[in-house]
Amino acid sequence: MKSVAIKGVREFEIKEVEEPTPSEKDVLIEVEKCGICGSDIHYWENGEPVGLIMGHEFSGTVIHPGTRTDLQVGDRVTGLPISPCLECDSCETGNIQYCKDTWTHAVGLSMDYPGGLSKKIKVRQDMVLKLPDTVSFEEGAMVEPTAVGLHAIHLADIKVGAKVLVIGGGIIGLVSAMFAKKEGASSVILTETNPERGKKSVSLGIADEWYDAKDQNTVPTLLEKTNGGFDVVIECVGNAPAVNSSLTLVRPGGTIVLVGVSTKDISIYTVMAVMKELKVLGAIGYTKEEFKTCIDLIATKQVEVTKFVDDIVGLEQVQASYERLTSGTDSAVKILVDPKR
Ligand SMILES: NC(=O)c1ccc[n+]([C@@H]2O[C@H](COP(=O)([O-])OP(=O)(O)OC[C@H]3O[C@@H](n4cnc5c(N)ncnc54)[C@H](O)[C@@H]3O)[C@@H](O)[C@H]2O)c1
Ligand SMILES: [Zn+2]
Ligand SMILES: [Zn+2]
Repeated sequence: MKSVAIKGVREFEIKEVEEPTPSEKDVLIEVEKCGICGSDIHYWENGEPVGLIMGHEFSGTVIHPGTRTDLQVGDRVTGLPISPCLECDSCETGNIQYCKDTWTHAVGLSMDYPGGLSKKIKVRQDMVLKLPDTVSFEEGAMVEPTAVGLHAIHLADIKVGAKVLVIGGGIIGLVSAMFAKKEGASSVILTETNPERGKKSVSLGIADEWYDAKDQNTVPTLLEKTNGGFDVVIECVGNAPAVNSSLTLVRPGGTIVLVGVSTKDISIYTVMAVMKELKVLGAIGYTKEEFKTCIDLIATKQVEVTKFVDDIVGLEQVQASYERLTSGTDSAVKILVDPKR
């Protein structure tokens, strides 16, 4: 079957690979839609591991249910891409995101579970979740990034009336901003280096205002506007300028949630966290409950996620889509891949 794999730095190749075969551990799924994620972009930019078939934000139809007696061929599903052991203390308390095994065999992020940039995938049977009839395949592929935002917002513990800053207007920033509003934030401001994405965060009704992160006036303007800083900052970029601006723009005693991932060491001004007695939290992934909650929120139309989808492309357009998403000037935030096109 046709798949898209990492070939080198910012380079994919389309190649024929063997189809996954039925086993007791897994459910086989024909992929319907698969999202391109900011984390996938880090792998592509670094060009490794060579041969990795990415795609951890997927929806599809069951072609072999494995040992899942509640699933039938043709059922519409999504799934958590992760591989928690379910036996350690973290797993036993529901915090599967802390498990040391969570990402080792993750779908689309490990070599042994190739991802949705492929016609068919295998997914660990206990991680597969049915999609209600009211959830489309497009929405099904959006559950995973939506759950990342929900997890970050749960950690942020936003109080009604709080002033919230979201740094970065990719999908993770946008869903975090969306949930911050739902939690009762009085204002949600977003900073971006890409003006097209910044404008889009406001035109979609997600942020109240956006500011250009490259503009030297932004930090003083925001400090004045908030009378000394935001109650909560959700950092959804992962580079040094973004992390340092979160330390500068949060108020004394405020909370920062770091969601952005850096694949390199970065230099940050920890003295600001000391002087302001900040709560600086990391956020990784989601719990299974949060993942299910996002399916429910989408199914009951309490959150609308298709507005974030800019394009749906075939496997042949994956390379061009990654280039588009990293151009720094395009407004596109989320591109879904349909391997059947
Ligand atoms: N912690 C987790 O569980 C988790 C899950 C998914 C993604 N992530 C990470 O979160 C980050 C965001 O993911 P995404 O899919 O939205 O990525 P993305 O690349 O689509 O979005 C990042 C955005 O940040 C903007 N940006 C760059 N520098 C900036 C700066 N200094 N200030 C403001 N904005 C800036 C870019 O223009 C871009 O729009 C990535 O690092 C990704 O790896 C973390
Ligand atoms: Zn993702
Ligand atoms: Zn575990």
